[in-house]
Amino acid sequence: MTETDMITARSLSRSFKTKSGPVEAVRGIDLDVRPGEIVGLLGPNGAGKTTTLRMLTTLLMPSSGTATVAGHDLVREPRDVRRRIGYVSQVGAPPSAGTIVGEELVTQARLQGLSKADATTRLSEVAPRLSLGGLERRALLELSGGQRRRFDIALGLMHSPQLVFLDEPTTGLDPQSRANLWDHIRSLRDDSGVTILLTTHYLDEADALADRVLVMDDGKIVADDTPDALKARISGDVITLAFGVAGELARAESVARTAVPVREVVVTDSALLVTVDEGAVAVAPILRALDFAGLSPSSITVNRPTLDDVFLTLTGRSLREGAEGDSAA
Ligand SMILES: Nc1ncnc2c1ncn2[C@@H]1O[C@H](COP(=O)(O)OP(=O)(O)OP(=O)(O)O)[C@@H](O)[C@H]1O
Ligand SMILES: [Mg+2]
Repeated sequence: MTETDMITARSLSRSFKTKSGPVEAVRGIDLDVRPGEIVGLLGPNGAGKTTTLRMLTTLLMPSSGTATVAGHDLVREPRDVRRRIGYVSQVGAPPSAGTIVGEELVTQARLQGLSKADATTRLSEVAPRLSLGGLERRALLELSGGQRRRFDIALGLMHSPQLVFLDEPTTGLDPQSRANLWDHIRSLRDDSGVTILLTTHYLDEADALADRVLVMDDGKIVADDTPDALKARISGDVITLAFGVAGELARAESVARTAVPVREVVVTDSALLVTVDEGAVAVAPILRALDFAGLSPSSITVNRPTLDDVFLTLTGRSLREGAEGDSAA
């Protein structure tokens, strides 16, 4: 724990009482974010990402644990924390009819204590930064999905926070709008030195945007490293063999194990993931052995390790398959 950290959290936990019993949404996580970092909190649905962000932004009291955010204690000095941070929630606030982009941004700044003149000046800085220049007089309801998300982020930036929390900033956007938003997020850090903690369940997003990735699963942080270092932990290539018939997977696993020296085999609902030293060398003998056993995969791919493989190795599940609902397992 150093004085200069932008976020320091220790054993931060949050549980909820529900009708079906207590839910341990966040189970004692430690977190350190340095000034100027872009940190990605990566995890499947229900991992505890939003709960973590809501605690760090003072919107939700921790059940236990401590945190210092932007130099202030989360529980004892929530107002000081709030003044220094921006928060863009997973679902933007619903726009009321007649809300005008520029007016809403100025109102937000004034709520944060800026004078009218300062708020207007700030609007002229923030709008072009998020390519909203020229849209100030438009109604919020008229914006496209990508424009709307850029507006949500602008709203969180009007009071010039040093630290911004973005909850799934690009979910629901088309690939082009996502890449565009990544550029905007990067420039916040590169040009203005803003520290950014964002959540995502997109591996490519964490890979492209984050200096450091915290992998979260079932309320815990299971890995914390740069995307490259995480991938380097997994040596070897992964051969993915998909089977249309679920019953063939178990037989295919034993065939693959005897065909070549394998480092690891993971069986998912529909595929066999075989980790070997060199994919290009191993694929032919595996296929010959499968063919001999009367098994034919519906697809075969050979991949260098990705963040998804990291997640699979850490949790035994694939992030891509979406882990909706099984976080209590
Ligand atoms: N207010 C609440 N009351 C009861 N349970 C809650 C509440 N908020 C969250 N949870 C539960 O806590 C767990 C973590 O939820 P959270 O919203 O933090 O996940 P997430 O990682 O943000 O997921 P997603 O990717 O779907 O947004 C889930 O099991 C969820 O059902
Ligand atoms: Mg969430």
